[in-house]
Amino acid sequence: MTTLLNDSVALGGRKGGSGETLQIRGGHPLSGTVDVKGAKNLVTKAMVASLLGDTASILHDVPDISDVAVVRSLLEVHGVRVQDGDAEGSLVLDPRDVESAHMEEIDAHAGASRIPILFCGPLLHRLGQAFIPDLGGCRIGDRPIDFHLDALRKFGAVVEKLPSGIRLSAPGGLHGANIHLPYPSVGATEQVLLTAVRSRGVTELKNAAIEPEIMDLIAVLQKMGAIISYEPNRVILIEGVDDLRGYEHRAIFDRNEAASWASAALATDGEIFVGGAKQQEMLTFLNIFRKSGGWFDVREDGILFRRGGDLRPVVVETDVHPGFMTDWQQPLIVALTQATGESIVHETVYENRFGFTDALNKMGAKIAVHPHGLQNGVRRVPRRTLEQAAVITGPTPLTGADITVPDLRGGYSHVIAALTAEGTSTVRNVGIISRGYEKFFDKLTGLGADFDVVG
Ligand code: EPZ
Repeated sequence: MTTLLNDSVALGGRKGGSGETLQIRGGHPLSGTVDVKGAKNLVTKAMVASLLGDTASILHDVPDISDVAVVRSLLEVHGVRVQDGDAEGSLVLDPRDVESAHMEEIDAHAGASRIPILFCGPLLHRLGQAFIPDLGGCRIGDRPIDFHLDALRKFGAVVEKLPSGIRLSAPGGLHGANIHLPYPSVGATEQVLLTAVRSRGVTELKNAAIEPEIMDLIAVLQKMGAIISYEPNRVILIEGVDDLRGYEHRAIFDRNEAASWASAALATDGEIFVGGAKQQEMLTFLNIFRKSGGWFDVREDGILFRRGGDLRPVVVETDVHPGFMTDWQQPLIVALTQATGESIVHETVYENRFGFTDALNKMGAKIAVHPHGLQNGVRRVPRRTLEQAAVITGPTPLTGADITVPDLRGGYSHVIAALTAEGTSTVRNVGIISRGYEKFFDKLTGLGADFDVVG
């Protein structure tokens, strides 16, 4: 039973508490259906891409999450008219009156997001200049933007670092470049795509990220009139064009949210049908899900997830696509605390992405985080200064505790851990979860979670 105690808008688009603190009574399986909308990590970028068009764009399956709200207000500050479309979850983005915004206005709207950095290319093409405030985003590492700035300079941009952000200009306009990323960075790949499509000449991007969300952004840009070819071995070629028009696009589903609910079913021994989930983009996740004792059934309109028997320990290394996504490990680790034996999760993408395990240990889990990753042979990317491996020894019954959410995916895992634990937990700072999970409270309620919004 869920009680929403006070009267202000909460997570999940429902009346309720401030959405910051939950009291959760755990120990019950989560069972039922959730629908996932468009991927947070595509939709926000497709919205930025609309800046490049000479006419309005329409984006479908846009989730009601705060990361979208941040990008919407940033676009509006730059003169883009953003309106809700006819269909639920559709946006109409009209960039025909784009003008530069004032620095303080942009700063006020940047919020805890990393998306503003992707405004560089589109604003330089339209206005010849841009100011990008210091970035937010989850504290899961130092999250530099050196790959972005190096690429922009190669396109001919002049980058000036200010105390509150960066100012860019393109005195001679932007021209095609040969860029070889040191690491297949998702954001840097998007930066290059959004800049190259209207730069004079050809751009060759090597060691590009090829996540499904990247391929969907390429589809969006191609609809706008861009000429982009995806070559073997992570090479992307872009032939710059003078003009782009608006697009109409239905966003790829959010495979990070789908994987989160799958892990929730595993951890709580429930059964969750994730509407909108597709097998193709989740192949690696589904293999690990099955190896850890999960069972799934792929259907036309989604995937059913539950346990297939006893949970089993697994050894997982996160990697760039098509590897096991770094965003999938946090919810899975909650389930692995219930597996009999020793699991290892080796995080190779971010240098500080196991902070959430402190709370799990407080609840009774046995997770040791080692600052240096597992020694192994050939690696795709140069050894990073800090890699991390978490060793999870189970099964360990979890008991309710007072815990605070550290970041988006870790926060989701805190809630699932509280739902898995026996007894009552207080989970604080849950507002951050609204950045990436639409109608989170409603979905939990629909799955039978027993919680109150208490503050
Ligand atoms: C995107 O972050 C996603 N965020 C992340 O999802 C996701 O975990 C990540 O890609 C990896 O798939 C969005 O799309 C908004 P990266 P991004 O550039 O683009 C280093 C979530 O929970 N790097 O691929 O920031 C960086 O520090 C979020 O939805 C540099 O060193 O990721 C990291 O170690 C969390 N210099 C690695 O590369 C740079 O200039 C991967 O980063 C850029 C990145």
